[in-house]
Amino acid sequence: MAEELKIGAGSKEEKYRELVPQIEAVVEGETDFIANMANVASMLHETFRFWWTGFYRVTEGMLVLGPFQGPLACTRIKKGKGVCGTAWEREETVVVPDVDAFPGHIACSSLSRSEIVVPVKRNGEVIAVLDIDSKELSTFDEIDKKYLEEVVKVL
Ligand code: SME
Repeated sequence: MAEELKIGAGSKEEKYRELVPQIEAVVEGETDFIANMANVASMLHETFRFWWTGFYRVTEGMLVLGPFQGPLACTRIKKGKGVCGTAWEREETVVVPDVDAFPGHIACSSLSRSEIVVPVKRNGEVIAVLDIDSKELSTFDEIDKKYLEEVVKVL
């Protein structure tokens, strides 16, 4: 049985520093990828109260919606499309301070203002992406990039 999530009220970086080992502990005890994505989405969402936190899996040559927390989302995204499809194609994290300024952004929710997408790789290949949306502009920076890239490595 997993422990309850306990994160102190510190800075963003302090929260990530506390959260990452807790995520590692939860994921370590489980081999199922979908179960682990579900708990990672929950733990990030509960800690930071993002607008939308979830995964898309590479399935049949597309990104298909996986475990998430937040409102209803688009189910399929093509390679190179939107922020998610761009992160998949570039095989690197994409930080978008203002989604209206990102050509081709896919507005699953009209309330999303900024976004970060981090590819999940296995044996050097992108197998999924972690997508997080915020209702505020410029929510995500190098700190989020650094710790979220650590988080997806444990999956
Ligand atoms: N905005 C994303 C689509 C997924 S939703 O935000 C959940 C994109 O442009 O790829």
